[in-house]
Amino acid sequence: MINLTGKVALITGSSDGIGAATAILFSSLGAKVAIVGRTQSKLDKVSSECQSKSPNGLKPIVIQADFEKDEDVKRTFDETIKAYNQLDILVNNAGVACQKRFAEEGDLEDYDRVMQVNVRSVILLTKLAKDHLARAKGSIVNVSSIAGIRMSGTFWSYCMTKAALDMFTKSMASLLSPEIRVNSVNPGPVRTNFLNQIENPNSLWDLMATTMPLQRVGVPDDIAQLIAFLASDAAKNITGSIVVSDSGSLVADPHKTLASVVFTDENKQG
Ligand SMILES: NC(=O)c1ccc[n+]([C@@H]2O[C@H](COP(=O)([O-])OP(=O)(O)OC[C@H]3O[C@@H](n4cnc5c(N)ncnc54)[C@H](O)[C@@H]3O)[C@@H](O)[C@H]2O)c1
Repeated sequence: MINLTGKVALITGSSDGIGAATAILFSSLGAKVAIVGRTQSKLDKVSSECQSKSPNGLKPIVIQADFEKDEDVKRTFDETIKAYNQLDILVNNAGVACQKRFAEEGDLEDYDRVMQVNVRSVILLTKLAKDHLARAKGSIVNVSSIAGIRMSGTFWSYCMTKAALDMFTKSMASLLSPEIRVNSVNPGPVRTNFLNQIENPNSLWDLMATTMPLQRVGVPDDIAQLIAFLASDAAKNITGSIVVSDSGSLVADPHKTLASVVFTDENKQG
Protein backbone atom coordinates (compact mmCIF):
# COMPACT_ATOMS: atom_id res chain seq x y z
CA MET A 1 0.00 0.00 0.00
CA ILE A 2 1.34 3.41 -0.94
CA ASN A 3 1.01 6.10 1.69
CA LEU A 4 2.19 9.66 1.07
CA THR A 5 0.85 11.18 4.29
CA GLY A 6 2.92 14.19 5.34
CA LYS A 7 4.90 14.27 2.09
CA VAL A 8 5.06 17.50 0.10
CA ALA A 9 4.94 17.00 -3.68
CA LEU A 10 5.48 19.54 -6.45
CA ILE A 11 3.89 18.27 -9.68
CA THR A 12 4.48 20.32 -12.82
CA GLY A 13 2.05 20.33 -15.74
CA SER A 14 -0.77 19.37 -13.39
CA SER A 15 -3.60 21.43 -14.91
CA ASP A 16 -4.39 18.57 -17.29
CA GLY A 17 -3.77 14.96 -18.34
CA ILE A 18 -1.14 12.87 -16.57
CA GLY A 19 -0.09 15.65 -14.19
CA ALA A 20 -3.67 16.32 -13.08
CA ALA A 21 -4.30 12.58 -12.48
CA THR A 22 -1.06 12.43 -10.48
CA ALA A 23 -1.99 15.43 -8.31
CA ILE A 24 -5.42 13.92 -7.59
CA LEU A 25 -3.94 10.48 -6.78
CA PHE A 26 -1.21 11.99 -4.56
CA SER A 27 -3.87 14.00 -2.69
CA SER A 28 -5.92 10.83 -2.13
CA LEU A 29 -2.77 9.17 -0.73
CA GLY A 30 -2.38 11.96 1.85
CA ALA A 31 0.26 14.19 0.21
CA LYS A 32 0.36 17.98 0.42
CA VAL A 33 0.49 19.04 -3.19
CA ALA A 34 1.62 22.04 -5.26
CA ILE A 35 0.04 22.12 -8.71
CA VAL A 36 1.40 24.10 -11.67
CA GLY A 37 0.15 24.83 -15.17
CA ARG A 38 -0.62 27.57 -17.62
CA THR A 39 -4.40 27.83 -17.40
CA GLN A 40 -5.91 29.13 -14.14
CA SER A 41 -9.43 27.76 -14.75
CA LYS A 42 -8.09 24.23 -15.31
CA LEU A 43 -5.85 24.50 -12.24
CA ASP A 44 -8.83 25.57 -10.12
CA LYS A 45 -10.81 22.53 -11.28
CA VAL A 46 -7.94 20.14 -10.46
CA SER A 47 -7.45 21.88 -7.09
CA SER A 48 -11.09 21.21 -6.11
CA GLU A 49 -10.79 17.55 -7.12
CA CYS A 50 -7.58 17.19 -5.10
CA GLN A 51 -9.25 18.69 -2.04
CA SER A 52 -12.27 16.42 -2.35
CA LYS A 53 -10.04 13.30 -2.61
CA SER A 54 -7.65 14.30 0.21
CA PRO A 55 -8.35 12.34 3.44
CA ASN A 56 -7.75 15.57 5.42
CA GLY A 57 -9.48 17.88 2.93
CA LEU A 58 -6.13 19.51 2.07
CA LYS A 59 -6.27 22.16 -0.64
CA PRO A 60 -3.23 22.24 -2.93
CA ILE A 61 -1.32 25.43 -3.58
CA VAL A 62 -1.94 26.57 -7.14
CA ILE A 63 0.77 28.19 -9.28
CA GLN A 64 0.12 29.58 -12.72
CA ALA A 65 3.39 29.53 -14.66
CA ASP A 66 4.85 29.31 -18.13
CA PHE A 67 7.93 27.08 -18.18
CA GLU A 68 9.16 28.70 -21.38
CA LYS A 69 10.39 31.37 -18.93
CA ASP A 70 13.14 30.64 -16.39
CA GLU A 71 11.71 33.23 -13.99
CA ASP A 72 8.40 31.32 -13.86
CA VAL A 73 10.25 28.09 -13.03
CA LYS A 74 12.06 29.89 -10.18
CA ARG A 75 8.82 31.43 -8.93
CA THR A 76 7.20 27.96 -8.93
CA PHE A 77 9.89 26.65 -6.61
CA ASP A 78 9.83 29.76 -4.37
CA GLU A 79 6.04 29.64 -3.95
CA THR A 80 6.13 25.93 -3.09
CA ILE A 81 8.77 26.41 -0.40
CA LYS A 82 7.06 29.56 0.92
CA ALA A 83 3.85 27.56 1.38
CA TYR A 84 5.27 24.32 2.79
CA ASN A 85 8.95 24.96 3.72
CA GLN A 86 9.56 21.30 2.77
CA LEU A 87 9.84 19.24 -0.39
CA ASP A 88 9.81 15.43 -0.53
CA ILE A 89 8.76 14.67 -4.12
CA LEU A 90 9.33 16.49 -7.40
CA VAL A 91 7.41 15.26 -10.44
CA ASN A 92 8.77 16.90 -13.59
CA ASN A 93 5.81 16.26 -15.86
CA ALA A 94 5.18 19.48 -17.84
CA GLY A 95 5.88 18.83 -21.48
CA VAL A 96 4.99 19.88 -24.99
CA ALA A 97 5.18 18.20 -28.36
CA CYS A 98 6.72 19.89 -31.36
CA GLN A 99 4.72 21.02 -34.33
CA LYS A 100 7.26 21.71 -37.07
CA ARG A 101 8.58 19.08 -39.44
CA PHE A 102 12.31 18.94 -40.10
CA ALA A 103 13.47 21.79 -42.39
CA GLU A 104 10.03 23.43 -42.26
CA GLU A 105 10.23 27.17 -41.62
CA GLY A 106 10.51 27.88 -37.88
CA ASP A 107 11.68 24.37 -36.99
CA LEU A 108 14.69 25.65 -35.01
CA GLU A 109 12.53 28.06 -32.99
CA ASP A 110 10.22 25.13 -32.28
CA TYR A 111 13.19 22.99 -31.22
CA ASP A 112 14.31 25.74 -28.77
CA ARG A 113 10.82 26.00 -27.28
CA VAL A 114 10.41 22.24 -26.79
CA MET A 115 13.92 21.95 -25.33
CA GLN A 116 13.17 24.84 -22.95
CA VAL A 117 10.00 23.24 -21.55
CA ASN A 118 10.91 19.54 -21.70
CA VAL A 119 14.57 19.76 -20.64
CA ARG A 120 15.84 23.16 -19.46
CA SER A 121 12.98 23.75 -17.00
CA VAL A 122 13.60 20.27 -15.53
CA ILE A 123 17.30 20.98 -15.05
CA LEU A 124 16.57 24.33 -13.43
CA LEU A 125 13.88 22.99 -11.11
CA THR A 126 16.09 20.05 -10.09
CA LYS A 127 18.95 22.45 -9.24
CA LEU A 128 16.64 24.60 -7.14
CA ALA A 129 14.98 21.65 -5.38
CA LYS A 130 17.93 19.37 -4.66
CA ASP A 131 18.87 20.68 -1.20
CA HIS A 132 15.32 20.45 0.12
CA LEU A 133 14.87 17.01 -1.47
CA ALA A 134 18.16 15.81 0.04
CA ARG A 135 17.11 16.95 3.53
CA ALA A 136 13.87 14.99 3.11
CA LYS A 137 15.61 11.92 1.58
CA GLY A 138 13.19 12.55 -1.23
CA SER A 139 12.65 11.47 -4.77
CA ILE A 140 12.28 12.84 -8.30
CA VAL A 141 10.15 11.30 -11.04
CA ASN A 142 10.66 12.67 -14.55
CA VAL A 143 7.88 12.06 -17.05
CA SER A 144 9.60 11.16 -20.29
CA SER A 145 8.25 9.09 -23.19
CA ILE A 146 8.96 6.04 -25.29
CA ALA A 147 9.78 8.75 -27.86
CA GLY A 148 13.09 9.04 -26.00
CA ILE A 149 13.81 5.38 -26.76
CA ARG A 150 12.40 4.97 -30.27
CA MET A 151 12.04 7.68 -32.90
CA SER A 152 8.47 8.56 -33.67
CA GLY A 153 7.33 9.88 -37.03
CA THR A 154 8.05 13.52 -37.60
CA PHE A 155 8.44 14.30 -33.88
CA TRP A 156 12.23 14.48 -34.19
CA SER A 157 12.83 17.35 -31.77
CA TYR A 158 10.36 15.94 -29.21
CA CYS A 159 12.21 12.59 -29.35
CA MET A 160 15.50 14.41 -28.79
CA THR A 161 14.16 16.17 -25.68
CA LYS A 162 12.98 12.93 -24.14
CA ALA A 163 16.26 11.12 -24.92
CA ALA A 164 18.07 14.02 -23.22
CA LEU A 165 15.71 13.78 -20.27
CA ASP A 166 16.42 10.05 -19.87
CA MET A 167 20.16 10.70 -19.71
CA PHE A 168 19.54 13.53 -17.22
CA THR A 169 17.56 11.06 -15.07
CA LYS A 170 20.44 8.57 -15.06
CA SER A 171 23.08 11.25 -14.45
CA MET A 172 21.14 12.74 -11.52
CA ALA A 173 20.40 9.31 -10.05
CA SER A 174 24.13 8.84 -9.75
CA LEU A 175 25.09 12.40 -8.76
CA LEU A 176 22.36 12.95 -6.17
CA SER A 177 22.62 9.51 -4.52
CA PRO A 178 22.34 8.35 -1.82
CA GLU A 179 20.05 11.14 -0.59
CA ILE A 180 17.71 11.49 -3.57
CA ARG A 181 16.28 8.77 -5.83
CA VAL A 182 15.69 9.82 -9.45
CA ASN A 183 13.63 7.74 -11.89
CA SER A 184 11.77 8.17 -15.13
CA VAL A 185 8.35 7.06 -16.30
CA ASN A 186 8.19 6.64 -20.07
CA PRO A 187 4.62 6.41 -21.34
CA GLY A 188 3.53 5.23 -24.74
CA PRO A 189 0.31 6.76 -26.09
CA VAL A 190 -1.93 8.07 -23.30
CA ARG A 191 -5.36 9.53 -24.00
CA THR A 192 -4.93 13.20 -22.95
CA ASN A 193 -5.13 16.59 -24.67
CA PHE A 194 -1.47 16.25 -25.67
CA LEU A 195 -2.26 15.69 -29.33
CA ASN A 196 -5.01 18.29 -29.57
CA GLN A 197 -3.04 20.17 -32.18
CA ILE A 198 -3.81 17.22 -34.47
CA GLU A 199 -7.14 17.19 -36.21
CA ASN A 200 -9.57 14.60 -34.83
CA PRO A 201 -7.29 13.26 -32.03
CA ASN A 202 -9.93 10.81 -30.71
CA SER A 203 -9.95 8.76 -33.88
CA LEU A 204 -6.14 8.77 -33.80
CA TRP A 205 -6.12 7.32 -30.24
CA ASP A 206 -8.65 4.66 -31.35
CA LEU A 207 -6.53 3.75 -34.35
CA MET A 208 -3.38 3.59 -32.24
CA ALA A 209 -5.10 1.22 -29.81
CA THR A 210 -5.61 -1.33 -32.60
CA THR A 211 -1.83 -1.42 -33.23
CA MET A 212 -0.86 -2.01 -29.58
CA PRO A 213 -0.10 -5.52 -28.29
CA LEU A 214 -2.49 -4.83 -25.38
CA GLN A 215 -5.12 -3.46 -27.82
CA ARG A 216 -5.51 -0.27 -25.80
CA VAL A 217 -3.83 3.07 -25.25
CA GLY A 218 -3.07 4.28 -21.75
CA VAL A 219 -5.21 6.53 -19.56
CA PRO A 220 -3.69 9.17 -17.26
CA ASP A 221 -4.31 7.12 -14.11
CA ASP A 222 -2.15 4.23 -15.49
CA ILE A 223 0.81 6.61 -15.44
CA ALA A 224 -0.14 8.35 -12.18
CA GLN A 225 -0.12 4.97 -10.36
CA LEU A 226 3.40 4.26 -11.60
CA ILE A 227 4.61 7.74 -10.62
CA ALA A 228 3.15 7.29 -7.13
CA PHE A 229 4.91 3.93 -6.74
CA LEU A 230 8.30 5.30 -7.85
CA ALA A 231 7.94 8.39 -5.67
CA SER A 232 7.03 6.37 -2.58
CA ASP A 233 9.11 4.39 -0.09
CA ALA A 234 7.80 1.22 -1.76
CA ALA A 235 10.42 1.94 -4.47
CA LYS A 236 13.27 2.57 -1.98
CA ASN A 237 15.59 0.22 -3.89
CA ILE A 238 15.02 1.86 -7.28
CA THR A 239 17.01 4.74 -8.75
CA GLY A 240 18.18 5.58 -12.27
CA SER A 241 15.43 3.45 -13.83
CA ILE A 242 13.65 4.25 -17.06
CA VAL A 243 10.27 2.60 -16.53
CA VAL A 244 8.10 2.07 -19.60
CA SER A 245 4.28 1.94 -19.51
CA ASP A 246 3.23 1.77 -23.14
CA SER A 247 0.49 -0.83 -23.84
CA GLY A 248 3.33 -2.94 -25.26
CA SER A 249 4.13 -0.41 -28.00
CA LEU A 250 7.89 -1.06 -27.90
CA VAL A 251 7.36 -4.79 -28.42
CA ALA A 252 4.77 -4.44 -31.17
CA ASP A 253 5.71 -6.77 -34.01
CA PRO A 254 5.28 -4.89 -37.33
CA HIS A 255 4.88 -8.22 -39.16
CA LYS A 256 2.04 -9.25 -36.88
CA THR A 257 0.32 -5.86 -37.32
CA LEU A 258 0.73 -6.11 -41.08
CA ALA A 259 -0.56 -9.69 -41.08
CA SER A 260 -3.68 -8.66 -39.16
CA VAL A 261 -4.42 -6.12 -41.90
CA VAL A 262 -3.55 -8.34 -44.88
CA PHE A 263 -4.99 -11.62 -43.57
CA THR A 264 -8.47 -10.51 -42.57
CA ASP A 265 -11.02 -13.26 -41.87
CA GLU A 266 -12.49 -12.55 -45.27
CA ASN A 267 -9.36 -13.12 -47.33
CA LYS A 268 -8.24 -16.01 -45.06
CA GLN A 269 -11.40 -17.81 -46.22
CA GLY A 270 -10.71 -16.81 -49.80
N1 LIG B 1 -0.19 11.77 -23.77
C1 LIG B 1 0.75 11.01 -24.29
O1 LIG B 1 0.50 10.21 -25.23
C2 LIG B 1 2.15 11.06 -23.74
C3 LIG B 1 3.04 10.03 -24.12
C4 LIG B 1 4.33 10.05 -23.64
C5 LIG B 1 4.75 11.05 -22.79
N2 LIG B 1 3.89 12.05 -22.44
C6 LIG B 1 4.40 13.09 -21.55
O2 LIG B 1 3.55 13.26 -20.45
C7 LIG B 1 3.66 14.60 -19.96
C8 LIG B 1 2.27 15.16 -19.72
O3 LIG B 1 1.57 15.20 -20.95
P1 LIG B 1 -0.01 14.97 -21.08
O4 LIG B 1 -0.21 13.90 -22.05
O5 LIG B 1 -0.64 14.86 -19.74
O6 LIG B 1 -0.39 16.34 -21.82
P2 LIG B 1 -1.42 17.50 -21.50
O7 LIG B 1 -1.33 18.41 -22.67
O8 LIG B 1 -2.74 16.94 -21.12
O9 LIG B 1 -0.78 18.19 -20.22
C9 LIG B 1 0.44 18.89 -20.32
C10 LIG B 1 0.66 19.69 -19.05
O10 LIG B 1 1.91 20.38 -19.21
C11 LIG B 1 1.69 21.75 -19.01
N3 LIG B 1 2.55 22.56 -19.84
C12 LIG B 1 2.75 22.45 -21.18
N4 LIG B 1 3.55 23.47 -21.60
C13 LIG B 1 3.83 24.20 -20.49
C14 LIG B 1 4.58 25.38 -20.28
N5 LIG B 1 5.16 26.04 -21.28
N6 LIG B 1 4.66 25.87 -19.02
C15 LIG B 1 4.04 25.24 -17.99
N7 LIG B 1 3.32 24.13 -18.13
C16 LIG B 1 3.21 23.63 -19.38
C17 LIG B 1 0.23 22.01 -19.37
O11 LIG B 1 -0.23 23.20 -18.75
C18 LIG B 1 -0.42 20.75 -18.84
O12 LIG B 1 -0.69 20.89 -17.47
C19 LIG B 1 4.49 15.37 -20.99
O13 LIG B 1 5.80 15.53 -20.50
C20 LIG B 1 4.48 14.47 -22.20
O14 LIG B 1 5.65 14.62 -22.96
C21 LIG B 1 2.59 12.08 -22.89
